[in-house]
Amino acid sequence: MSGAFSKSMARNIFFGGTAFFFFLFLALSFDTIQQYPKRDMRQNITPQVVAGKHIWETRNCIGCHTLMGEGAYFAPELGNVVARLGSKEAVKAFIQSRPVAGIPGRRSMPQFNLTDKELDEIAAFLEHVNTINSANWPPNIQG
Ligand code: HEC
Repeated sequence: MSGAFSKSMARNIFFGGTAFFFFLFLALSFDTIQQYPKRDMRQNITPQVVAGKHIWETRNCIGCHTLMGEGAYFAPELGNVVARLGSKEAVKAFIQSRPVAGIPGRRSMPQFNLTDKELDEIAAFLEHVNTINSANWPPNIQG
């Protein structure tokens, strides 16, 4: 079968492939532009959410946790923690109640001594993250 792959076949594959992927690129770009306004959440980013993100960064929560899959794998995913624990109040209570001593082998979370205002802010941030359309990530409630 040597010589079966002719120059014209190579040319057709090149032009055909180029056209196919060019139109695929256009179709996906069009889809992105259609989706964008539905996913634009900027109006939900209140000053409280911004302050909560500041706490998230300055206390290095991501050094132990993941947020929508990004971060460290020492502790649970927090992108959906408000849904998992049921409410912002439960999240605040959890953060305040740590660490829990005396359970051998259990990973433990430090106490951050956050004020009530800071707890409201971090909870608002986590609630905001929970409402982002992340195409169902994480795939289950456990994270
Ligand atoms: C030193 C590592 C570490 C850091 C830093 C850390 N955590 Fe944690 N966190 C953990 C561990 C470990 C657990 C699970 C502990 C447990 O269940 O007792 C946890 C659990 C949680 C939970 C409950 C998750 C669930 O599914 O039950 C929340 C909410 C939480 N952390 C919030 C935070 C926030 C907010 C910050 C930053 C202010 C933070 N964590 C920083 C280690 C950490």
